Amino acid sequence: MANAERRSLNSLMALVSEAAQLISEEAGKGSQILVLSHFDADGLAAAGILGSALRRLKSSMHIRAVDGLDEETLGQIPIDSSDLLVFADFGSGLLDVLSKKMMRKAIILDHHQPVGTPGDKILHVNPHTFGFDGATEISAAGVTYLVARALDTRNLDLSALAVVGAVGDMQDRGEKRSLHGLNSMIVEDGVKAGSVKLDRDLVLYGRETRPIHRALAYTSNPFLPGLSSQEDKCLALVTSAGIVVKQDERWRTLADLRDEEKQNLLSAIIRAVTSKGVAGKIALNLIGTAYTLPKEERGVPTRDAREFSSLLNACGRMNRQGLAISICLGERGQTMDEAQEVLAEYRKAVAQHMTWVTETPERVEELTGIYVIHGEGTIDENMTGTISTILVSSGTFNPMKAVLVLAKTKEGELKISARGTEQLVTSGVNLGKILQELTSKHKGSGGGHDIAAGANIPVECEKEFFKELDEAISQVLKVRI
Ligand code: C5P
Ligand code: C5P
Repeated sequence: MANAERRSLNSLMALVSEAAQLISEEAGKGSQILVLSHFDADGLAAAGILGSALRRLKSSMHIRAVDGLDEETLGQIPIDSSDLLVFADFGSGLLDVLSKKMMRKAIILDHHQPVGTPGDKILHVNPHTFGFDGATEISAAGVTYLVARALDTRNLDLSALAVVGAVGDMQDRGEKRSLHGLNSMIVEDGVKAGSVKLDRDLVLYGRETRPIHRALAYTSNPFLPGLSSQEDKCLALVTSAGIVVKQDERWRTLADLRDEEKQNLLSAIIRAVTSKGVAGKIALNLIGTAYTLPKEERGVPTRDAREFSSLLNACGRMNRQGLAISICLGERGQTMDEAQEVLAEYRKAVAQHMTWVTETPERVEELTGIYVIHGEGTIDENMTGTISTILVSSGTFNPMKAVLVLAKTKEGELKISARGTEQLVTSGVNLGKILQELTSKHKGSGGGHDIAAGANIPVECEKEFFKELDEAISQVLKVRI
């Protein structure tokens, strides 16, 4: 590690220790601690890490996960009813507002690009402050894990949840879909603690738990045209690759396959996507780093970090945050069965939305630098993020344009989920910054990461907003509208 980087890491870790110290003092006094987190996989994993650490401190706590943090949500939360408030996976985008509102001490454990200045009541722990990229190098669960580790060495086992949060936020963008940056330090902790194991493998969804054809059909990253969500086609493909799908009446899983069978499977997948007019190399993204959590039982979704994150994401977005948090806190049995039912419902809803997008091309508007998918009235407001993530990885859109999925919220606002590609980000497009700047002008709220961001705006601004957004992106890319 270069000297400058080490200095930055030291400064980050000093702040991490300060946060741990404050939490430990409050827990020691018997204070009531409120943990407020985002409802996606990373936010829920962060809440689980903090919840487990507080339980080890025998602290009194309450955890609540919400779909986002804006002034309106803040108004509905009794932020001053607890002795200490900890924000996980949000807060950094609202520093000025929080500084004004908070009457008591609060801690923000976040990885989004900061906006504003934290006042003296707020301990703001964010990797961006020290030159680390919160979009790729560490997630909110990772930041929260660092604090938990500083509290107690027993918490090294919580590194597994930090890995779940990081893959949930798609930070596995290192070589062969590995975690990198500060995340690799966390993975190392996990390996030492026996909580995380790394394997180079085909990264299908449900490596250990699902029949091979179903794991293939369930894989949406990368989205495989003609295969994703299509179990019958996947079964035909697996069989055509010469793979015996059942052994002693039991469906074989990817984990049961020999290397040669995996190679044959990959070749068949490449042929299938190429026949749909998509570059076969997109299928090579299936070869990656699998993160197994060996302390979890075999055959359950929590044993694979990516599956674990999908389970959490589904529960959060289906408004079953309590279920997700219980799982992060270690509950299994009936809670796990229920969560799997929620996941099945969620998958059905995602597949329906994807079919709608594919079959309704007239609702996809293509501008110079963006695609706008007009899901108002059809797409659920909690689904926009998932749909835009799947669409951008599908290879069916121009990678030099951002994908925006729209939905109408129950309050009658427009909800926007924006996703870009690495190519777009490398060319200088920072979706989080652009949305944050534009929304402040249009009486909305927005922000996030360079590659994945979101916004809420009044419907009447729609036309002007997208025109300006298209201009802003085109200007960075130097393409003329
Ligand atoms: O609030 P938060 O940062 O956790 O949300 C980021 C969202 O962006 C997640 O839902 C994650 O899956 C998504 N994402 C993405 N592509 C990336 C990075 C993140 O779609 N490359
Ligand atoms: O909701 P979605 O998954 O699209 O959010 C992507 C990213 O944008 C998340 O990191 C989220 O915290 C951020 N976002 C935001 N303000 C909004 C909506 C989303 O900062 N109004």
